[in-house]
Amino acid sequence: MQRNSNRGNKKGEVVYIRTYGCQMNVRDSEVIRGLLQESGYEFTAEPEKADIILFNTCSVRQHAEDKVWSGIGRYKAKGPSCSLRANQAKRKIIGLIGCMAQNYGRDAFHKAPEIDFIVGPSDIAKIPGIVSKFVHRPSSVVHHNLYETKIWETDGDTRPDEIYHTGFYEDKNHAFVVISEGCSNFCSYCVVPYVRGPLHNRNYKAILKEIEEAVDKGITEITLLGQNVNAYISSPGLKAQSSKLQCKTKDSEEINFVDLLKLVNEIKGLKEFSFITSHPKDTSIELFKAMRDAEKLKKYLHLPVQSGSDGILKLMNRGYTGRFYLDLVDNYRKIVRNGVLTTDIIVGFPSEGEEDFQATCDLVKKTEFDAAFIFKYSSRQHTEAQKFIDDVAKEEKERRHRLVLDLQKLISKKKKS
Ligand code: SAH
Ligand code: SF4
Ligand code: F3S
Repeated sequence: MQRNSNRGNKKGEVVYIRTYGCQMNVRDSEVIRGLLQESGYEFTAEPEKADIILFNTCSVRQHAEDKVWSGIGRYKAKGPSCSLRANQAKRKIIGLIGCMAQNYGRDAFHKAPEIDFIVGPSDIAKIPGIVSKFVHRPSSVVHHNLYETKIWETDGDTRPDEIYHTGFYEDKNHAFVVISEGCSNFCSYCVVPYVRGPLHNRNYKAILKEIEEAVDKGITEITLLGQNVNAYISSPGLKAQSSKLQCKTKDSEEINFVDLLKLVNEIKGLKEFSFITSHPKDTSIELFKAMRDAEKLKKYLHLPVQSGSDGILKLMNRGYTGRFYLDLVDNYRKIVRNGVLTTDIIVGFPSEGEEDFQATCDLVKKTEFDAAFIFKYSSRQHTEAQKFIDDVAKEEKERRHRLVLDLQKLISKKKKS
């Protein structure tokens, strides 16, 4: 990958980046900022002072997308030629990046012609080059069709690992470190595998190197990131080359998530670390034991259950039952003493009846989560569940949402007292 490109920012253009969605996007925005800073761009926290506005977006629910469209709408150019770069010398350069960029592709230009470029999550390394093209493009040329002035990049496969090593972190003490990108679970309601692509694990040595570099810069706490971190498995054959590996001995073995936790725990200068998000089907007793034994690892587990009904869990393609989840929680509490447990729940999934909903409430009561994030089901394009009839009425979704929120509030209060 080209660094410090001489096609960078010679004009002193300033960038503002607005981040929506999950921690993965928070980290991606940092990565993008690190890359653009290397190319000479400055950043501002005030969008009105920026020349370039980047929207790093989320497609997980309709509501997340609606927020982005209205955010972009504020930059609508006035007049009939708003989509063209003629007479727009003072107009801001607008980039749609992240999950919505992938979800909509070029259609996004039709929905919001003020967008200049579109970059999907696997192509973020290309952003400095694309921004530079706009910064250096003469504004006096008259263009006649929408695509003539636009750039879109959504065909990327894997990211070059260099992008994670710019050394830029928003926080002086804490860093998010990506261990895997994408997801291959295909939960029937979820758009993530379609917008982020299949699961791709980073090489564990690159991960350890990034953490060591961050620690050298004064970072003391990290969060390992992935859509399903405990499915992590690093390529075989790499291990023998690392002098730091002490927890396994055979060269042919692979590094799994538990091994990775043990290695991270050994990094000198690192004081504390955690990970997010885990999938119940990939969660093991070995993981709980590692959480118990690794002294730097926070005793915190975010384990989304989504539903307490076996029928709905099957339709969701989650790969476990309510009983399996409750047994996991039992083991977690026995092994990781005083471990914190949080979850995600979706209410109003297609065909969810009162009995299914009560099964979710029962699971919440039995589990006594420390916190739960409750979402109303939102039909997403590309997904399997989009083929189901979204038959739980909006008001009923709202009622169920409120009921689980209230239930969880009582539990959280009880646990704190
Ligand atoms: N990879 C993580 C998080 C994925 S998105 C995981 O598997 O847990 C975060 C949460 O958003 C999910 O856990 C789920 O509860 C919720 N979610 C995802 N798709 C949704 C949809 N279509 N409608 C409502 N909530 C959804
Ligand atoms: Fe989506 Fe399921 Fe993957 Fe989480 S595990 S990102 S919910 S497909
Ligand atoms: Fe949203 Fe993309 Fe994260 S869809 S939840 S920003 S992976």
